[in-house]
Amino acid sequence: MAENVMEEIVALCKRRGFVYPASEIYGGINGFWDYGPLGVQLKNNIRDSWWKTMVECPPIGPDGHPICIVGLDSSIIQNPKTWVASGHVGGFNDPMVDCRETKSRYRADHIKCAQVVQAKGEEKHDLGWLAVLEGDQMIVDFEKRAKKLVKKAGGGELITPEFDDFHLFMNMTPEIQQQVTGPDTKTPGTLTEPRMFNLMFESYAGAIQDESSKVYLRPETAQGIFLNFKNTVDTMRVKIPFGIAQIGKAFRNEVTPRNFIFRSREFEQMEMEWFCPPDDARQWYDFWKQQRMDWWLSLGIKKENLIFRDHDDDELAHYSKACVDVEYKYPFTAPGFGELEGIAHRGCFDLTQHKEHSKAKLEYFDQQRNERYIPHVIEPAGGLTRGLLVLLCEAYTIDESRPSKVVMKFDPKMAPVKAGIFPLVNKDGMPEIAEKLYLELRSKYVCQFDSKQSIGKRYARMDEAGAPYCFTIDGQTKEDNTVTVRDRDTAEQSRISIDKVAGFLAEKIGK
Ligand code: GAP
Repeated sequence: MAENVMEEIVALCKRRGFVYPASEIYGGINGFWDYGPLGVQLKNNIRDSWWKTMVECPPIGPDGHPICIVGLDSSIIQNPKTWVASGHVGGFNDPMVDCRETKSRYRADHIKCAQVVQAKGEEKHDLGWLAVLEGDQMIVDFEKRAKKLVKKAGGGELITPEFDDFHLFMNMTPEIQQQVTGPDTKTPGTLTEPRMFNLMFESYAGAIQDESSKVYLRPETAQGIFLNFKNTVDTMRVKIPFGIAQIGKAFRNEVTPRNFIFRSREFEQMEMEWFCPPDDARQWYDFWKQQRMDWWLSLGIKKENLIFRDHDDDELAHYSKACVDVEYKYPFTAPGFGELEGIAHRGCFDLTQHKEHSKAKLEYFDQQRNERYIPHVIEPAGGLTRGLLVLLCEAYTIDESRPSKVVMKFDPKMAPVKAGIFPLVNKDGMPEIAEKLYLELRSKYVCQFDSKQSIGKRYARMDEAGAPYCFTIDGQTKEDNTVTVRDRDTAEQSRISIDKVAGFLAEKIGK
């Protein structure tokens, strides 16, 4: 069921212009997506809400005073020493396993193995180890393939392993690893031992392509912020505590991009580094944790679909003092949850590293405390494109009673299209009145004027686009200056004066 929902969301995204596979006419390219007209609008709405909440109108701090956060748009390519200092050159690795036969590549920590056991009466036979990808479908996938092995071995019953009978491929001995049949092959022993794989995309700056001109596409927006800490302090009259926020593209050569835009190789992040005195860091960590959850809720995500997940000590990076994820119940993780944003207490790791590697003076002189120190950092790091996926999943509502069968119930503030404006028929002056209304509204709201096909089809299209309201100009409009308003969520229609349409939208959507 959940798998189907995801397939249907992907199909709707394509059909309605939210997200297309990148380079589709060339057969696509794994891990890359293009955001179509509705997708980019929805993404911009999330981006603008984040920027407003963080930079233009940041929250009131725990002491009752407004806090200060400034914006930044740093370069995607920085001096490669940046990534040595940040630890990404040495440590931004995932263990990966290749299949020599199919050339598939897997994250080693995503492959789980169990033994195929055939039962014939009292007798039991081991038919070898089978690897499957970890996830909801793990046992189902295992059973499907294991039953074929049992049949091939003369029939009998398959003893289905329990969840706990599955072992992580990377924890098994090399001898056993060589007996395993990989996730998409029938031959045992085709999987390589796990090898480390750096996730940064490399390129060359300048005409000569050698080690000295090697550069990296940033794997996170955060480091550009640390590189500009001193510039910001020197030019912006900011005083600690303060934050620097940035939204932008990040690139990771993910071993197994999957689940639509959840894990892609090019994506967008919304990150803020909050610089504060070391003693206050814990208090700010708690503050940002709650602020970030409140913001996701403000986008219309249901409370029961979001949780906090504190990282265990063994999950924390060595420099990190605490980390919590905001997780969402995606269709492919349900009933479990998956990461949407991380809020990390990074201590003074990043600034200390950049200070040592660049020799720049990155200490801050705190006049109030009369002391010099390296500020500590709390980092809320959210995914913009992952947030878009969450809003798509959240909005997706099946309604068999409608021609579209699906309604995208976006929070009206976030909806990429706020209203559809339709003349009921293309005569009797209706298109002219509809166009006048459209021209009045479009300077404030993203609206779509549509006069083609039946009114039912136009409503269906708007339901899939998630437009909260449709206004239809009909025969009665000329008589009494009223139009019908159709509510997306209830499909109910009522009449309002055409002069009140702008006020109606302002009341329902804001602005
Ligand atoms: N500066 C810290 C940092 O980058 P992260 O947890 O690696 O932390 C932050 O990334 C957020 O970026 C994640 O919570 C997720 O929303 C998003 N993200 C990370 N990798 C992604 C990918 N491959 N595709 C889409 N979004 C991704």
